Amino acid sequence: MTAVGIDAIEIRTGKLKLDLAETFAPAQGDDPGKYTKGLGLHASSFPDVYEDIVTMGANAAHRLMERKGLSPQDIGRIDVATESAFDNSKPVSTYIAGCLEQVYDGDFHHANKGERKFACISGTQSLDDAYNWIRAGRNRGRSAIVIATDTALYARDDPGEATQGAGAVAMLVSEEPSLVELSAEQGFGSADETDFLKPNQQFPSVDGKRSVNVYLARMREALDDYASVAGDIHPEDYPLVPFHTPFPGMVRKAAALGYRHIVRGTDVEDLLAEEIGHQPMPEDFETDDEWHAAIKEYTDALTETERYQDWYADTIEPTLDIARHVGNWYTGSVHLARASGLKHAREHGRELAGQQLLVASYGSGAQAEVHAERVVPGWEAEIAQLNIDEQIRNRHELTFAEYEQVHDVHNHDQESDAEEFTAPEQEFVFDGWGRMGERKYRYVE
Ligand code: HMG
Repeated sequence: MTAVGIDAIEIRTGKLKLDLAETFAPAQGDDPGKYTKGLGLHASSFPDVYEDIVTMGANAAHRLMERKGLSPQDIGRIDVATESAFDNSKPVSTYIAGCLEQVYDGDFHHANKGERKFACISGTQSLDDAYNWIRAGRNRGRSAIVIATDTALYARDDPGEATQGAGAVAMLVSEEPSLVELSAEQGFGSADETDFLKPNQQFPSVDGKRSVNVYLARMREALDDYASVAGDIHPEDYPLVPFHTPFPGMVRKAAALGYRHIVRGTDVEDLLAEEIGHQPMPEDFETDDEWHAAIKEYTDALTETERYQDWYADTIEPTLDIARHVGNWYTGSVHLARASGLKHAREHGRELAGQQLLVASYGSGAQAEVHAERVVPGWEAEIAQLNIDEQIRNRHELTFAEYEQVHDVHNHDQESDAEEFTAPEQEFVFDGWGRMGERKYRYVE
């Protein structure tokens, strides 16, 4: 079977930065530790006034195409995953194709374009669509571009405000990919939940505490489902496990749950038992409360063990490096986590070729998905092309008053103008409104 997977990745962050400890915490009257230690976040990215989900997506896709020497006829699909769309009919992918056509001679008239929605998991679902299209043999030798792009804003003073972020991840999905091959096996955990939703509104209605529990419950189901098709999962089989990362503190909880779950009944659980005993089982308790208290106690002890901490430091921590500085990118978040882990591995000389990543995606509403990805020889050369560190360094740092202005500029219900904070250069920018209410874009040399 021909390998299908991700051939290249590009990341585009919003060009503004809000420092959570220095700027946000004092203005909210909070201890900075709540953000840097509790949530695990140092800063959020925001779009400048001329940036939005289209410009960030188009700029990421443009760099991807330039770097891979592609022209429009090489692309048979453009799929955009977003939960920040501004139109219920015309997909963002058409705007992005329109942008790209400004800078290429050819066009994308024979490419299938669409938009996927299921909260943060739709980026992974768009990868599935591209994978299935190639596997079905409908691609005529062409590749797909999958773009996950979001401006993840919450209402001012919502508890989610500290987890905001904005950016895009563009991925080229091809036969014989240069980065990772996707597994055919997948596990799902999916249920009708109302933890986080946007019923025709820009800012989410969110029950933050419940959303954390729903994430964990669906993830556990997806792990079970994946193991039922792919066989038992052993923690040491995967050098990196990228999770959907709304904030790194969420992954701290998910990783502990996942580890506890997959070591059950393995040699690792036996080794751990010498230190902290065996895992409590539900049948040993009379009430749910007693069982939950016992599980919490076991998990707290587990996360204190050297074995767990070494696993976490190697397998999870590297996937959180970028998220800590940019916040939640919704659909792009798990793809940022993959890129972050691979980038860290390259910088630390880890040899991953032939090894498998376990990728754990999640979207509120709610669904988790787990699949494996085999790292392809030569992956380091592809990852070395990322320029995200430079982009993060070059962001304009907002004062709190500027942050308030930027939040208003991107609030669809506010008429608000602000001068741009950075100067656009060699990129697509938002250029005002057309006669039918459409958004217009142009390329700035
Ligand atoms: P909160 O209630 O303001 O924060 O918001 P908190 O009081 O729970 O504190 C957060 C953590 O910081 C806690 O750690 C505190 O103990 C700790 P935990 O007990 O959970 O381990 N803390 C401190 N640590 C050190 N020093 C201190 C300090 N103070 C407190 N001084 C909440 C938290 C997650 C509810 C909020 O950020 C929120 O509503 N976020 C938005 C929803 C969200 O991100 N949910 C995550 C799961 S759902 C998901 O991932 C899907 C999503 O991406 C959307 C989609 O799919 O489309 C959101």
